[in-house]
Amino acid sequence: MKGHEIVEKNIGLMTILMVVAISFGGLVEIVPQFFLKETTEPIEGLKPLNAVQLEGRDIYIREGCHVCHTQMVRPLRAEVERYGHYSVAGESVYEHPFLWGSKRTGPDLARVGGRYSDEWHKVHLYNPRIVVPESIMPAYPHLYDNKLDGKHTAAKMRALAKVGVPYTEEDIAGAEKAVKGVTEMDALVAYLQNLGVLLKEKR
Ligand code: HEC
Repeated sequence: MKGHEIVEKNIGLMTILMVVAISFGGLVEIVPQFFLKETTEPIEGLKPLNAVQLEGRDIYIREGCHVCHTQMVRPLRAEVERYGHYSVAGESVYEHPFLWGSKRTGPDLARVGGRYSDEWHKVHLYNPRIVVPESIMPAYPHLYDNKLDGKHTAAKMRALAKVGVPYTEEDIAGAEKAVKGVTEMDALVAYLQNLGVLLKEKR
């Protein structure tokens, strides 16, 4: 086994060969994902967020909700029993950027839509301790006071349309009117109530 000995005794050569092997493995695993329908096509019934939900999503990002909450149910029994159907790629095709997250200080929110009433969410966001006494989640009372003006909503939709989110001219034209005067609280709750509702059932 002469060749093997040469590689084993030559760390530079071995490093190069390792990089080649790992890169090849990566290509084989990752590249096909770009061409699979399952990962690039929206699931049945998926619609882009409406204007109010889209603003709600931006509030979610601004307030750092994604720092404590994931939106990714893994295909593990414990997760599926707790949260519902595991997340599939086709649910995220209109997400820019995606909010899968990596840290769960609080529960996963991928399927929180419809789990609680709007009122529950509003009270919980106003002060989580009112409904969950042991909660360590911060309070967001200011969301009640801030009203949206919708000035940038159309531009945001236009930018998303450029990267493939199917907003129509009609959606974009009506965006400012739909959003104007809505409280940040209502927009955020509208966003939360839409999360994961297409694949609800537990498996
Ligand atoms: C510091 C970490 C932290 C941040 C930031 C945070 N949360 Fe939470 N969240 C928690 C914890 C812990 C819980 C579990 C206790 C509770 O229900 O209050 C929770 C629970 C929730 C629940 C209930 C989930 C369920 O299935 O019962 C929702 C909805 C929620 N958070 C939404 C939000 C939103 C929206 C934001 C941003 C405005 C946010 N959270 C920010 C920690 C956080």
